[in-house]
Amino acid sequence: MYGPRILVKVPASTANLGPGFDTLGMALSLFEWIEMQAADETTITAYGKGMKDIPSDKSNLIYKVAQLVFEEAGVSVPELSISLYCEIPLTRGLGSSASAIVGALVAANALIGSPLSDDKLFQIATKLEGHPDNVGASMFGGIVVSAWDGERADHVRIEPHPSLETLVAIPSFQLSTEKARHALPKTLNMADAVFNVGRSSLLVAALSAGRLDLIRTAMRDRLHQPYRAQLIPGMSSILANASEHGALGAALSGAGPTIITFVDGSSSASSKAELERFLLDTLAAEGIEAETMWLPPYQHGAVWTKLDEHDKTPLMDLIRSEVRA
Ligand code: HSE
Repeated sequence: MYGPRILVKVPASTANLGPGFDTLGMALSLFEWIEMQAADETTITAYGKGMKDIPSDKSNLIYKVAQLVFEEAGVSVPELSISLYCEIPLTRGLGSSASAIVGALVAANALIGSPLSDDKLFQIATKLEGHPDNVGASMFGGIVVSAWDGERADHVRIEPHPSLETLVAIPSFQLSTEKARHALPKTLNMADAVFNVGRSSLLVAALSAGRLDLIRTAMRDRLHQPYRAQLIPGMSSILANASEHGALGAALSGAGPTIITFVDGSSSASSKAELERFLLDTLAAEGIEAETMWLPPYQHGAVWTKLDEHDKTPLMDLIRSEVRA
């Protein structure tokens, strides 16, 4: 191995936040770390749950995305040593593929002296992912509002309210974004479209102005969640009733199956425990096992550091103090 040794930390994300389909995203305090260095021969080592199944040859997503950066920058780095650790559950609606894409773009760009701007990386990431919501949040951190016309994605970042916390319920089954997008209709009626424009706009305004009291009504959606409900038993009941159990609002996280609730962090421990119980009990009543996690919004996007190229400390030793137990 030779040349700079780059370590990137990239957050998970939740997309849509209810009504903002393919438009709103928020970074969450759950991470993927990617280490990259030029090498004589490509090696890819992945740590973390479910990571043993990911390809360890040049068909690996992170390797392929890195090569796109080198191509765009007009340089050649055909062989890479890549190590990664991912604590983001895969295919659950927490943006694991977006984190991998953003992490790979940022690592590869840093490896060759950062010739591409963050905006350029965001454009590439959006094209690869097919929508800007998850990649925007993982790239820039906080809450990201973005619009993509198939050519260019524009975005504005909003600082999350300091008392905003989230509780997610992650079902034990996987649901591909492709399958969850397949459940959507080709057309919408005008009343539903107007409903969503109103809620999504209100949600952005409420999050910008710190109006946590409006989240409950602003997170409602008629564009995708009603159609996806059949794929996630218990979801409709959680979305309808979470605010009676201590949540500010609730939504399907991205394409699911994870369900995310927004919570006022200053609420009591017993109210938080009740919400957790409500989520787990509602899913259990449908025969669905799930795991809950409290995930504060994360203010930072992907960040990279350059390590001493002669330092051979393994990735897991470098990040041990930061990973979730
Ligand atoms: N906005 C996307 C969707 C996010 O809901 O399909 C999932 O990747």
